[in-house]
Amino acid sequence: MTILHVDSSINGANSVSRSLSAAVVARLTQINSSETVVLRDLAARPLPHLSQVGGGDPSVLEEFLSATTVVIGAPMYNFGVPSQLKTWLDYIAVRGKTFQYGASGPEGLCGGLKVIVVSSRGGIFTAGSPYAAFDHQESHLTAFFSLLGVKDLSFVRAEGLALGEEMQRRALEAAQMQIQNLAA
Ligand SMILES: Cc1cc2nc3c(=O)[nH]c(=O)nc-3n(C[C@H](O)[C@H](O)[C@H](O)COP(=O)(O)O)c2cc1C
Repeated sequence: MTILHVDSSINGANSVSRSLSAAVVARLTQINSSETVVLRDLAARPLPHLSQVGGGDPSVLEEFLSATTVVIGAPMYNFGVPSQLKTWLDYIAVRGKTFQYGASGPEGLCGGLKVIVVSSRGGIFTAGSPYAAFDHQESHLTAFFSLLGVKDLSFVRAEGLALGEEMQRRALEAAQMQIQNLAA
């Protein structure tokens, strides 16, 4: 059983998504101590964009395919995911490996994978809020992992982080509560 822990925040030790993704991994290893953890830090070691001259280091895909659980620290940057994380998505969406095309469209090949996304954002974008339509971060990751056939996708969310100390405190408390309630 391998947990792939992916981080993408550029904020180092001050990053909310990094501290929460670490807490998720700690909780999962507390639940199941036989888990092995592999860390991929996309800000410390950014992957080159796919391009005409190549790209798509196959070891990145192999690392993803070897995981049973993937924990992703995914802050909202300019309404979407950090470009470092977007590039990683480009590496793992590989036809014939993580999805394929069938008679009725794309079919995901990662049905057994569990994915937990830690979503951090300055504003509030949850369904029903005035800015819900501006969320191209969680919605992107939802669409992406649906393409890959992932059925067990969940979000640990800390939002409203730029809306004052009280909002931040409540957001972090709610996220920590979600983490404590994570099941095996
Ligand atoms: C480059 C950049 C772009 C950001 N864009 C947005 C945004 O579009 N909407 C938002 O609500 N917050 C935005 N934020 C705020 C972050 O989502 C927020 O600070 C969050 O805590 C970042 O996660 P981190 O602490 O793990 O880096 C942005 C922050 C940065 C650094």
